[in-house]
Amino acid sequence: MSKPSSPIVRAAAALAITALAFAAVAYFAGSAAYDWMKALHVIAIISWMAGMLYLPRLFIYHCDAEKGSVQSETFKVMERRLLRAIINPAMIISWVVGLWLAWQGGWFKAGWFHGKLLAVFALSAAHGYLSAAVRAFAEDRNTKSASHWRLVNEIPTVLMIIIVVLVIVKPF
Ligand code: HEM
Repeated sequence: MSKPSSPIVRAAAALAITALAFAAVAYFAGSAAYDWMKALHVIAIISWMAGMLYLPRLFIYHCDAEKGSVQSETFKVMERRLLRAIINPAMIISWVVGLWLAWQGGWFKAGWFHGKLLAVFALSAAHGYLSAAVRAFAEDRNTKSASHWRLVNEIPTVLMIIIVVLVIVKPF
């Protein structure tokens, strides 16, 4: 099995890719830069959400696998890779590009944006909780039941619905 690179290296790579995308868009797209960045933002949040919805499902199956079994060790690899290769970089890109959009669009004073920020902070806290759970499963320290993870699985779903309604409908 190849040695996993450190999360810091992966996070730095995600930031470098984002910075490059920024530079390329600003250089080539001119006045269309905002729409290009919004497209990049939506791609990043789809990746972030896909991971946030899948990770608790892996935990549900992992709870049923006996500690030390081949199946349990396979779940550990799947969880670690999903978190480090997809969820973490996608979250960083979503935040960086989202804040750039807010700055460019002058959204910092908008009521809907304050609501969205609250929901995104809650989503980021859920992200932290799931990251801690990946570590706990990796060290065979998970004490939570499958039904707990089934419930946790609903949190990103509810937050996603709130965020999308706020940003598309802009009700206040
Ligand atoms: C991580 C922090 C985030 C920030 C700072 C942020 C900020 C923004 C901003 C300023 C816009 C542009 C709004 C417009 O031009 O009308 C936008 C667009 C959008 N955001 Fe986010 N966002 C974040 C995360 C998310 C998340 C987690 C989701 C979904 C779960 C999401 C969904 C969307 C969608 C669908 C659009 C496109 C809306 C449209 O075209 O009208 N964002 N975001």
